[in-house]
Amino acid sequence: MSPTIPPLAGKLEGLRSSAIRDLLKLTSRADIVSLAGGLPDAELMPRERLATAADAALSHNGCLQYTESTGWTPLREVLAHRESAGLGRSVRLAEVFVTHGSQQALSLLAEVLLDPGALVVVEDPAYVGALQVFRAAGARIAAVPLDGEGMRTEAITALIARGERPAVVHTVSNFHNPGGVTMSPRRRMELARLAEQHGFWVIEDDPYGELWFDSPAPAPVASYSSNVIRLSSASKILSPSLRVGWMVAPEPVCRAVELLKQGADLCGSALTQQITADLLADTTWLAGHVDHVRAVYGERAKALVHATRTRFADRVRCGDAAGGMFVWADFTDGTDTDRLLPRALESGVAYVPGSAFAVDGGYRNSMRMCFTTSDAATLELAIDRLADAVG
Ligand SMILES: Cc1ncc(COP(=O)(O)O)c(C=O)c1O
Repeated sequence: MSPTIPPLAGKLEGLRSSAIRDLLKLTSRADIVSLAGGLPDAELMPRERLATAADAALSHNGCLQYTESTGWTPLREVLAHRESAGLGRSVRLAEVFVTHGSQQALSLLAEVLLDPGALVVVEDPAYVGALQVFRAAGARIAAVPLDGEGMRTEAITALIARGERPAVVHTVSNFHNPGGVTMSPRRRMELARLAEQHGFWVIEDDPYGELWFDSPAPAPVASYSSNVIRLSSASKILSPSLRVGWMVAPEPVCRAVELLKQGADLCGSALTQQITADLLADTTWLAGHVDHVRAVYGERAKALVHATRTRFADRVRCGDAAGGMFVWADFTDGTDTDRLLPRALESGVAYVPGSAFAVDGGYRNSMRMCFTTSDAATLELAIDRLADAVG
């Protein structure tokens, strides 16, 4: 008799790998220039400085031990100091919580803030990692479109006017993944005001804010209201392998997240948290390092945008890439980017079709291109290949 395979939890239904993701597995082929990845450039990760910090940490035993669930206290002190400067107020240690990358903060917050069926507002196109977390938590999802000023907050007002009561609004306020846009100060204030008036949480998910090219990002949404939980990460400025993200949130939220983190993994890594504290506290070195990453990414972004505009003229519309890692582009001639992808792969270039980020379908004429891991000449080659594929 064949064994009966026990079922998986019902909430996993609908969480399956997409056909596009399966196609994109091909992008690791050496003959393909991938604009699909979405990874920071490993060449720019500060290996030597990390090694020095690792040596220093390993010279005593503490770093090999379990650490506090809230995060290694000296790291939280460094983070409280950094965040105080960004938020324009004194951030207390009890408001700072270290997570295993900001992705874990999203996942723990979904458990802390959402009952099944609660309404979560996300941006459309969306950061897929957030969408997955909220769907797995059994939330109802409402999509709000982006424009050049970021999330269209008037769509939240309209939703509320229809009688909906969001529990959480998730926003990638700076250099959006995948949309590339940054929320304007006016919209930030409006979102904070709505959150206070209607009693919902905002999760300001900000791993890209430091990667600005021409001018710094505006003041965080969290600087306008304590209803805003702010997430940041060492992944894009230092290295994702540290798995250090952090959250600034009101103390009761941090305490609830602490209880759940104990169940998830007891605590983060004392070793990588000490290394991260060392690098973040070395402010002169850090400023020089981040300036270098910005300069390299900025040059690549401009090369990609320039090549796209030159090669496609008005057949493709794309933003200016003012920071972050992504350019979002729309074909204006009806090109279907899902259907184009196999031909693009044959021509030796990969991107992510817009439909992969769509909350309720759509974006069939759009694509996300990541400029971080190729130099300017390779990005130009990629756009030439894309133009060949489009024909
Ligand atoms: C918008 C956004 N949030 C969160 C993350 C997760 O980053 P990490 O867990 O490495 O901090 C990413 C990663 O790409 C992201 O793009």
